[in-house]
Amino acid sequence: MKTVLITGASAGFGKLVAEKLLAKGYTVYAAARRVERMQDLEAKGAHVMHMDVTDNESVKAGVGRVLEEQQRIDVLFNNAGYGSYGTIEDIPLEEIQRQYDVNVFGMGRLIQAVLPQMRQQRSGTIINTSSVVGQISTAVVGWYASTKHAVEAFSDALRMEVKPLGIDVVIIEPGAVKTEFDEVAFGTLDSLDLAEDYKPLVSGFRKYTGGMYAKCPGPEGTANAVIKAIEAKNPKTRYATTMDAKLLPRVKRLLTDKLFDKVVLSQMK
Ligand SMILES: NC(=O)c1ccc[n+]([C@@H]2O[C@H](COP(=O)([O-])OP(=O)(O)OC[C@H]3O[C@@H](n4cnc5c(N)ncnc54)[C@H](OP(=O)(O)O)[C@@H]3O)[C@@H](O)[C@H]2O)c1
Repeated sequence: MKTVLITGASAGFGKLVAEKLLAKGYTVYAAARRVERMQDLEAKGAHVMHMDVTDNESVKAGVGRVLEEQQRIDVLFNNAGYGSYGTIEDIPLEEIQRQYDVNVFGMGRLIQAVLPQMRQQRSGTIINTSSVVGQISTAVVGWYASTKHAVEAFSDALRMEVKPLGIDVVIIEPGAVKTEFDEVAFGTLDSLDLAEDYKPLVSGFRKYTGGMYAKCPGPEGTANAVIKAIEAKNPKTRYATTMDAKLLPRVKRLLTDKLFDKVVLSQMK
């Protein structure tokens, strides 16, 4: 059975994918900072490890342990990440840098750590979790969207670089999904000292996005798409896993930029 390393396995997509793979008999390495939140996975047979994807040594040690114990790695589910909602002007630069360190450089650290082994094997699948906002960007999610645009860009390049070496690169694009993501993202927004000028926009954003998260799907469909990508002989390059993730980029392509802006802003009134 394949050996799979999952980052961000203490909650949301990562945890559900870990559960599903364990039930199918895969060898699962579940990584996150909150190891206490993965005790249930350990009881089901997962190898649980502490990993902070912003820490080079922590990433090297985690991947090193997988290779020492299994001598191979078949799948990296590069999933750890979070969003910080807020206007471009108001999110402090330190927070933006932290977001890049997790969402962009964190993924890069894992990719660089697993590739020597996957190249040697001449096989492997790297699954990077992007977002619908890797394809579009809207007010109040701009910095987060920019990290996911970066994920899309490096994934496209990596796919071309490693395909001849037998390694697949897959991008997962969920839209709004009920995990712990929205609590974290709104948590940043709540902590910001917003300039007065943005308050009406942000209040409209809260109503619109809060409403969306109140009725959005759970992680099941996205987790199933990840499993599908892992088990496919020839996986798709992108899996848009929710209705909004399938539709919004198409709508954007049909409209001019100015019309798209108007449509989005009309929802945030
Ligand atoms: N839910 C959505 O609406 C949605 C939509 C599009 C894309 N996404 C993306 O999907 C991915 C998973 O999010 P989710 O929805 O499952 O959210 P979640 O329930 O909040 O889970 C996020 C996971 O990331 C881990 N993580 C965060 N910072 C980390 C760090 N520095 N080092 C290691 N692990 C870290 C967390 O673990 P610890 O805190 O224990 O380390 C947690 O396991 C993210 O990349 C997110 O951007 C989510």
